[in-house]
Amino acid sequence: MRTAAVTISGVSKAYVMGGNPVPALRDVNLVIDAGDFVALTGPSGSGKSTLLNLCGLLDRADSGRITLDNVDVSGLDSDQLTVLRRERLGFVFQNFNLVPVMSVFENVEFPLFLQGMPEAERKDRVNRTLARVGLEAFAKRRPDELSGGQRQRVAIARALVKSARVVIADEPTANLDSVNAAQVVDLMRALARDEGTTCIIATHDPRVSDHCDRVVRLVDGVLQ
Ligand SMILES: Nc1ncnc2c1ncn2[C@@H]1O[C@H](COP(=O)(O)OP(=O)(O)O)[C@@H](O)[C@H]1O
Ligand SMILES: [Mg+2]
Repeated sequence: MRTAAVTISGVSKAYVMGGNPVPALRDVNLVIDAGDFVALTGPSGSGKSTLLNLCGLLDRADSGRITLDNVDVSGLDSDQLTVLRRERLGFVFQNFNLVPVMSVFENVEFPLFLQGMPEAERKDRVNRTLARVGLEAFAKRRPDELSGGQRQRVAIARALVKSARVVIADEPTANLDSVNAAQVVDLMRALARDEGTTCIIATHDPRVSDHCDRVVRLVDGVLQ
């Protein structure tokens, strides 16, 4: 039986620029099943990041409803959203978003620290996760001592370490060469397959969308 990980019902969102509304999403309806590996495509400015930010609880819709594991997130206050984001969601961004002054180990450990996990369990989990993404030998390095592909694998490890139910990835291969892009997609796929993690990946990179089970397309904020 398939269960919905994310449902988006009648969602609209506009930004206000100089007092005028700029529509970014218009009445979007989409159901993403648990374990799905979905590409969200569309031209620049079509609303991909806006939709991911809503699914990632980083922003709120103007209207409509979003549920995450059947929890209606529009009814939650910001503290409740933070808890849900910490416990259920992982993020992978184009620019990696690692903390530059922290080592690879500390970057991956950080979400577990925020969850209040005891140190021994944190260390064990981080070591296993770094091995899984092939970076155990790089644990003590700083992000600026890594290649782009390695940095993105740290970001994936940071999502993987806390067993995120849903991973939101915004243009994860935009700053990578083909070899590294392929590695990153393979790793995300393996994560989705082994852990049943749902992945929603905004991309206009066919190297990514060709490897997705499902491709949805936005044009001018409208799902095609
Ligand atoms: N913070 C913002 N303030 C004003 N307009 C924005 C903001 N973020 C996005 N937009 C506008 O919303 C629309 C959708 O943008 P976005 O979701 O970033 O698209 P994509 O990720 O597909 O490139 C675009 O017209 C963009 O200019
Ligand atoms: Mg974008």
